[in-house]
Amino acid sequence: MSDTRQATVPPTRQAGSRKVFIKTYGCQMNVYDSQRMGDALAKGGYVATEAMEEADLVLLNTCHIREKAAEKIYSELGRIRRLKADRALAGKGTQVAVAGCVAQAEGEEIIARAPVVDLVIGPQTYHRLPQALSRVDRGERVVETDHAVEDKFAHLPEASRREIRARGVTAFLTVQEGCDKFCTFCVVPYTRGAEASRPLARIVDEAKQLADAGVREVTLLGQNVNAWHGEDAAGRPIGLGALLFALAEIPGLDRLRYTTSHPRDMDDALIAAHRDLDALMPYLHLPVQAGSDRILKAMNRRHTAADYLRLVERIRAARPDIALSGDFIVGFPGEDDADFEATMQLVEAVGYASAFSFKYSPRPGTPGADMTGHVGEAVKGERLARLQDLLRRQQQGFSESLVGRRLDVLVEKPGRHAGQVVGRSPYLQPVVMPQSAGSVGDVVSVAIAASLANSLIAEGAMPAASPAFQPAGLVA
Ligand code: SAH
Ligand code: SF4
Ligand code: F3S
Repeated sequence: MSDTRQATVPPTRQAGSRKVFIKTYGCQMNVYDSQRMGDALAKGGYVATEAMEEADLVLLNTCHIREKAAEKIYSELGRIRRLKADRALAGKGTQVAVAGCVAQAEGEEIIARAPVVDLVIGPQTYHRLPQALSRVDRGERVVETDHAVEDKFAHLPEASRREIRARGVTAFLTVQEGCDKFCTFCVVPYTRGAEASRPLARIVDEAKQLADAGVREVTLLGQNVNAWHGEDAAGRPIGLGALLFALAEIPGLDRLRYTTSHPRDMDDALIAAHRDLDALMPYLHLPVQAGSDRILKAMNRRHTAADYLRLVERIRAARPDIALSGDFIVGFPGEDDADFEATMQLVEAVGYASAFSFKYSPRPGTPGADMTGHVGEAVKGERLARLQDLLRRQQQGFSESLVGRRLDVLVEKPGRHAGQVVGRSPYLQPVVMPQSAGSVGDVVSVAIAASLANSLIAEGAMPAASPAFQPAGLVA
């Protein structure tokens, strides 16, 4: 942080002794962004704390995707207001910052509605966080929500080797941000802005740094990750498939994943990467949202149910052991019983290893919110329950089909119980293993002995006759 900043810091809150508490909501990109903001703050002398009441700076990294997600922030701000008042009685100041997609969508409104907030900062301006906090130090209330033209990642400091290692053997890496698809239900094109891809060389450098620090698995992130585009060394245009081929060359990077993809952008090169790259995990999150062509059209998804099924067939032909996950929305405006049945049929036809499903939540400013034919809450609830029941059965069936097979598992951390370690299968399921299976960072081959609701148990990790055994070692 600059000298000017230090000169303006009151004596009780000198840079170097400040603590920051960061709370992250929403998708993996917010997790990645929180880490990058944490890195920037660490360079400015902040120390991370897990206890909000100890924090000189409370930073909420927020999500606007559904109404509930956004409303959560205001109730959290109510709690923070009381905390700030308590700390003030003890002579301590507290700065409160709201980042993320609610910040971008509601900017000034947050400042007006929540007087406790000192700083509102949108996802495109995180590189300006230190300067914005200096202005807060000078007593300003700041709103930074421009869609910056410069590459924020080029201005955000990198994590140190030690910080990377402390985060574990898996890491996220944002390669693309924003979205030009404008699905009519979705706030993302407004909160994250237009699609922008990071250059190949920057991504390769960051991945190498992660691998050097001990990371074994990298998940490439983008709101529309398979729309990533760049240039190879010769200046020829390339897509995500070629990027994956380049990353698979990096020594130590055993596993690659990417999320979230749009069906329209699954091109031949990307499907070929699934066929040819051992490092690319046979697991693909490919949201379809609905199974009715009428609803898909109203959602502006730009493909039909048949297009999606054909695509799944092509992907499975290239990589027969691939497992699919999806996202679904029930109760989009105009969805009738027959439309919903079409979604159920599509789910039956595909067979998902896992899925997320939601009731449609009208978002202000999106075309869907102004459509006619809104579906009642009770109907949405019934449809969601039926869909989730089917998806749960498919997920369970998939997990059970793995029992008796050997899987490669990346060991991630010690288990909750002594003598155990926990890792992830190629399909992202937590796997509980005996410690003898391997050390953190190893990819080991284990036989699967049992499947529970949210995890798999490897041979040798089953405790004898212990009905209360809860092998929950990883948060899903
Ligand atoms: N980029 C991804 C999704 C981002 S949002 C894609 O193209 O699919 C994650 C999921 O939240 C979406 O896939 C969708 O299922 C859900 N979602 C988005 N907006 C929603 C809304 N208004 N109501 C309910 N669910 C929504
Ligand atoms: Fe939202 Fe659609 Fe873009 Fe996904 S593709 S982020 S659902 S607008
Ligand atoms: Fe939420 Fe923004 Fe991610 S709205 S899902 S945090 S892109």
